[in-house]
Amino acid sequence: MLIHSASQLLTLKGGPQRGKALGTLNIISDGAVVIQDGKIVAVGGSEELKSAYPQEPRMDAGQRVILPGFVDPHTHLIWAGDRANEFELKMSGVPYLDILAQGGGILSTVKATRTASLETLIAQTRPRLFSMFAHGTTTAEAKTGYGLQTATELRLLKALLALNDESPLELAITFLGAHAIPAEYKDNPQGYTDEVTNTMLPTLKEWWQTHAPNLPPPFVDVFCETKAFTLEQSRQILTQAGSLGFPLKIHADEFDNLGGASLAAELGAASADHLVKTSDADIQALAKSDTVAVALPCTPFGLAERDYTPAGKILSAGGLLALATDCNPGTSWNESMQMALALACRYMKLTPAQAIAAATINAAHAIRRAETIGSIEVGKQADLLILAVEDYRQLGYRYGSNLVKKVIKRGRIYSVDTGYHQHA
Ligand code: NIG
Ligand code: FE
Repeated sequence: MLIHSASQLLTLKGGPQRGKALGTLNIISDGAVVIQDGKIVAVGGSEELKSAYPQEPRMDAGQRVILPGFVDPHTHLIWAGDRANEFELKMSGVPYLDILAQGGGILSTVKATRTASLETLIAQTRPRLFSMFAHGTTTAEAKTGYGLQTATELRLLKALLALNDESPLELAITFLGAHAIPAEYKDNPQGYTDEVTNTMLPTLKEWWQTHAPNLPPPFVDVFCETKAFTLEQSRQILTQAGSLGFPLKIHADEFDNLGGASLAAELGAASADHLVKTSDADIQALAKSDTVAVALPCTPFGLAERDYTPAGKILSAGGLLALATDCNPGTSWNESMQMALALACRYMKLTPAQAIAAATINAAHAIRRAETIGSIEVGKQADLLILAVEDYRQLGYRYGSNLVKKVIKRGRIYSVDTGYHQHA
């Protein structure tokens, strides 16, 4: 298949973009791309590729933008139920961490998730995957973390593997057994930390070898935060995870600065995420490392908070910045990377070009898949989007509606156009 006549073909070629280099789109105007067997085999100008591939079936992009599919490197996709009642409480002034300390928040989703069957979990999560895909996400990270006990965490993993199998949207799976201290360990957080370290992680290792031997190993993540896991507990869990061969992630500085970002850099984690209250020293440590700073602007927006990730400081220091939705039932029930881009432009002061690079090639690096996805380059997986618009700067500028017209995943074309479909 030869897709030609893209007004702007955003290749994003050249690998992850550090510091001030963020936003290098490497645009081909009147661009084209040739896809064979799910892979990109040629990228260039429309006239050039039409004469080089005269026999190739053609598709006209109609002078619209083509770019790599979005990679969403931080989601809590799999849960049961909702927390509309808590949204009402939060909007009337009750702080998020207070709701959690009273057994609500993450813990109310844990209650609903523990009692949900595998089938229910899959059925409730499927529409979220569909919505992400329709908004242009072709690969998403997905965390467990609403089980907080071995049996339920494994059920969540099973559900994620099933969804990964059935859906064109590809998942990069993360084990987040250390998402909160479960109610039964309320007075013994160290006891739960030891349980994760000494029981859950070795169990995970064995389970993965039998259930998903052909997939890359899952990431292991920890919510390093006041009222969740301390810096020392996070170190304990992540060190053990690293020695079992798991790649690492951390939730750091969402509400308080505990030093999680420096820990991530020290341990060689793939990413440190949230980073709202991050200190200058932590930003320097991150910038010297290959750990990607994943900003989640839908979260402060979802909580109606004032502070966002200090992107300017991270980029001046030479750090790697990516964007994600953080899709979850408590702080950010949003499936659209386009919304994350729009908020990142306004509240983190990114240009549309910077936001696009943070949501594609750098996001791919945050899940350590930048070798195969995140840009339009020969040899990479054919994951791309055809937008409904002619100028890439419409991304970020417009929000709240979907600018994606077609999603191409591993060379297969999915139409997500809306129109009037009247029922008889
Ligand atoms: O990334 N911070 C921890 N986890 C989620 C919130 C999860 C929830 O409230 O259910 C987050 O914001
Ligand atoms: Fe999160």
